[in-house]
Amino acid sequence: MPDGVELTSRFESLKVYDDPLEQGSDADFLKSCSGTLSEYIQSVLTSIPNCDESTVTLPSLPPERYRVIPKQEFTQGDVSECNFRYSPEDSPVKAKICEAKRLSLKDSLKPVWHFEVEPNSSVHYSPGDAFGFFIENDSHLVSWLLHRFNVTDNLYVADTKSAPPKSFEVSSALRKQFDLFSPPKKSLLRLLGEFCVDERERRILLLLSSDVGRDTYRSLFIRERVSLLDLLVAFPSCEPPLEKVLDGLPFLMPRYYSASSCYESKENTIDFVFSLAQYNIIAGKRWTRKGHATGTLDRICTQWDKRSLDDVQLTIFHRPSNHFRPPENLDVPYLMVCAGTGLAPFRGFIQQRRRKYTSILKTATGDYSMGQVYLFFGCRQVGEFQWYLDEIENDMSMLPNAELFVCYSRSTDDAMYVQDLLKKHAEQVNRLICSHPSSRIYVCGDGANMAKGVQESLSDILSEYHCSNKEDAKKFLKKLSDEKRYVQDIWFWG
Ligand SMILES: Cc1cc2nc3c(=O)[nH]c(=O)nc-3n(C[C@H](O)[C@H](O)[C@H](O)COP(=O)(O)OP(=O)(O)OC[C@H]3O[C@@H](n4cnc5c(N)ncnc54)[C@H](O)[C@@H]3O)c2cc1C
Ligand SMILES: NC(=O)c1ccc[n+]([C@@H]2O[C@H](COP(=O)([O-])OP(=O)(O)OC[C@H]3O[C@@H](n4cnc5c(N)ncnc54)[C@H](OP(=O)(O)O)[C@@H]3O)[C@@H](O)[C@H]2O)c1
Repeated sequence: MPDGVELTSRFESLKVYDDPLEQGSDADFLKSCSGTLSEYIQSVLTSIPNCDESTVTLPSLPPERYRVIPKQEFTQGDVSECNFRYSPEDSPVKAKICEAKRLSLKDSLKPVWHFEVEPNSSVHYSPGDAFGFFIENDSHLVSWLLHRFNVTDNLYVADTKSAPPKSFEVSSALRKQFDLFSPPKKSLLRLLGEFCVDERERRILLLLSSDVGRDTYRSLFIRERVSLLDLLVAFPSCEPPLEKVLDGLPFLMPRYYSASSCYESKENTIDFVFSLAQYNIIAGKRWTRKGHATGTLDRICTQWDKRSLDDVQLTIFHRPSNHFRPPENLDVPYLMVCAGTGLAPFRGFIQQRRRKYTSILKTATGDYSMGQVYLFFGCRQVGEFQWYLDEIENDMSMLPNAELFVCYSRSTDDAMYVQDLLKKHAEQVNRLICSHPSSRIYVCGDGANMAKGVQESLSDILSEYHCSNKEDAKKFLKKLSDEKRYVQDIWFWG
């Protein structure tokens, strides 16, 4: 191994973990992390029933697809420039980050950032639309992987299933095409097991992939988010050929972010908001893993400095929303409900409404009507999202019949969730929904908890003020949903 390579690649691989520098020297850290990880995995494995390996059911091995070969051996098809895997209907554009501002407080539970991107060609979008972001894997991590697999950078990955066959430089393929952090599939675990030299490591991985390892699989990979890279650290005798591992990896998927601006307000840049996804892997130990996209975006935003980050290029594409967009006519009343980063699209809704209203004022003869709009928003504490809220409040104050309601879930005197805030203003909420045959309800953000709570509150409110009972209220909401008047843009993750 050339001098310094091991140290550098090991050090850089630690970027997956939080603040490696605080953990002592790079080599010490990796050593401790590999020991702790193996210990942890092995302690979890005590929950696998004691059984004879030959009696368990193993998954099939991943189907063969890739070959890793020297360039000169590639005879069919072309050596292509490796790109992300997008669908034919997506039209990706290059974009550069041109602004980043923190929306969370220093002591907030998780960082939240507003950032702006400048696409290299103008993209016409509507409020409520999202953009897909392709974020490549960290190049240092890729170097670490190549080193771990004993693969030199002048090799190529041939995709035998693409028509015509294509091949890519191995490092580009690892950066742009493969998801290295989603939970390893059972077929991949079996493959890793088959290639362990150490009998104990082999047995552990095979059991983890099998039917008897189902519960342990869930706790290690789904709950604790142990990844392929962790396994490669914890099972040093595992030496599969890289091409076989690629067969077992999913494609790297885009992450979606709702535009938080409106096209008419600024045509050349698009605003977004994200909160950092963090997973505490290996409960009770010291690692926090960051989400693939938000981890990278957080690093970029934290180091934000216009001069040094001028060349941070992203690949994004427009994903229009079918129904999550404000009504065309300004007289249609609507209710917006959100928590945390779910605020993003509604900033665009309000910006657009204000622009439309201003242009009506310039041209109309007084013959216009503005429907009621309410925005209900919940976050943890006063000061979070503050400049967004100030801006939105200012825009709403310029609009007739527009009102902002905010609550804080960790306030010391009046803590509540956004669905409780809806109930606090139940009569107004009911009046808005029932006042117009085309009124709308929009909900954005976390689908697992918040959106359910909001739906429950809406049925309580409607059953109290509009319908005869809760059953009728639920049917009423279902009807609104079928008519695309109750629209949710929600996301389940983890
Ligand atoms: C329409 C839409 C709009 C969104 N808008 C915002 C927003 O404005 N702000 C915000 O903070 N978040 C938003 N999200 C959530 C966001 O896309 C990411 O899921 C979130 O930021 C975590 O990504 P990560 O890569 O950091 O985390 P990771 O942990 O790396 O990824 C999250 C999990 O989701 C899976 N996953 C993510 N994207 C895909 C995909 N495209 N296909 C299949 N699986 C996938 C990953 O495999 C992983 O298991 C939105 C989601 C959708 C669907
Ligand atoms: N278009 C989309 O699909 C879209 C757009 C933007 C964001 N998102 C996604 O939405 C999710 C949430 O975003 P975030 O990270 O900004 O949220 P967050 O910071 O985790 O939470 C925001 C607020 O919601 C509260 N909350 C927790 N449980 C709740 C519940 N059951 N009901 C109501 N409120 C609840 C939190 O309170 P406590 O912590 O005090 O309990 C906090 O005050 C993320 O997954 C993000 O990726 C999706």
